[in-house]
Amino acid sequence: MDMDPFFRRKRAGLVKSLLSLSLIFASVLMILKLRLSEKDAVGTKHGQEPSWCGSDCFPSIKAPVQSNFWRLNAETPSNTVNSQRVSNGTPTSWDAQILNCSEDESVKNQDWFRRLDPRFHQFVLHRHCRYFPMLINHPEKCADGEVHLLMVVKSVIEQHDRREAVRKTWGKEHTVDGKKIKTLFLLGTPTTGKDTKNLQKLIEYEDQIYEDILQWDFMDTFFNLTLKEVNFLKWFNIYCPRVKFIFKGDDDVFVSTHNLLELIGFKEQERKDVDLFAGDTISKAIPIRNRQSKYYIPKELYDRPYPPYVGGGGFVMSSHLARRLFAVSEDVELYPIDDVFLGMCLKKLNVAPELHSAFRTFGITRHKASSLNREPCFYKSLIVVHKLSAQELLRMWRIVHNKDLVCTQWTSI
Ligand SMILES: *[C@@H]1O[C@H](CO)[C@@H](O)[C@H](O)[C@H]1NC(C)=O
Ligand SMILES: *[C@@H]1O[C@H](CO)[C@@H](O)[C@H](O)[C@H]1NC(C)=O
Repeated sequence: MDMDPFFRRKRAGLVKSLLSLSLIFASVLMILKLRLSEKDAVGTKHGQEPSWCGSDCFPSIKAPVQSNFWRLNAETPSNTVNSQRVSNGTPTSWDAQILNCSEDESVKNQDWFRRLDPRFHQFVLHRHCRYFPMLINHPEKCADGEVHLLMVVKSVIEQHDRREAVRKTWGKEHTVDGKKIKTLFLLGTPTTGKDTKNLQKLIEYEDQIYEDILQWDFMDTFFNLTLKEVNFLKWFNIYCPRVKFIFKGDDDVFVSTHNLLELIGFKEQERKDVDLFAGDTISKAIPIRNRQSKYYIPKELYDRPYPPYVGGGGFVMSSHLARRLFAVSEDVELYPIDDVFLGMCLKKLNVAPELHSAFRTFGITRHKASSLNREPCFYKSLIVVHKLSAQELLRMWRIVHNKDLVCTQWTSI
């Protein structure tokens, strides 16, 4: 997510409202246009590739296909199907109705708060506010029959072109071999200074068309991303507890739905699906103390190494684990970086997230300019790749799903 409220505020007010007005106008046009072109949209029926080689292809040239590849990757301990329900008093509908998030006065006089970088004041003052009222809900999302895979995408109102691209590609709701895939976008409200009213109308209109938006009444800022995490976990526990698996990601990634389903399939076969949590795992990280960084965390806020966590660009987890995560998350203090927050919850559960090399949430290579980052054969063999614009995603999806794409020459990276 590229949001930085601290820079945004500096823009001149007039320019801002002009910009947002034209944005809305363009958006409405775009939605209408996309609706019209829906019928002749790119077909996404996958030819069943006989197999694919995952990240075994990567470090060097190897024998191409190893279904076994997936199996080597995990060490999930237990096989306790249908284990105990995590929370007994699950409400049957969303029960956070009142927006009551007043500042926590008690921290204001504390020494560490006075020393704390002012950028974090807002976060700390509202840290106790966890669940928010819903502005757009879809209680019916999982109502008609079992959902195999729920695609959950973090987005913000303005990025509707990315949502459109996701809906046409990896987030397309459909059924593969009897397995239902559904999609949801998680949103907050516009940040202050935006044309709130019009943006809100726009998102409501978009939701009437697609019925795939969940929106909560908190401001969509970078430090509030963790609110998306906890509010979604609670929502899921109420409305979709019987989904089998959840993919959670950003709206600027490429996902190979086919490969993702194959990974899940192998995990099920191996009975390693119960506590599945796999992605681009980062171990032994420490908080970033460089004040220029988006991920800067002052000592006053956190002064330990991070637990292993998974890059939030895209990861997969079992529904069973998601429910357990919800239960422990309620006792974990909110943290400004959502990926790390989930890592803290996992640690509480004693679950180590699995590092899986098909999840490339930092791109294919770390050299941003490298042409390998645009090599379709890599996309065909991975599960998640960060990061693409809406146009790039549509284009790459088309190429990767073209029957004429032949991937035999593997180069090393
Ligand atoms: C809101 O929360 C504060 C502190 O948590 C409490 O004192 C106040 O009564 C609450 N207001 C409402 C309307 O619930
Ligand atoms: C998060 O959202 C709440 C509700 O809109 C807001 O009061 C709070 O200031 C936000 N926090 C940050 C750090 O932006």
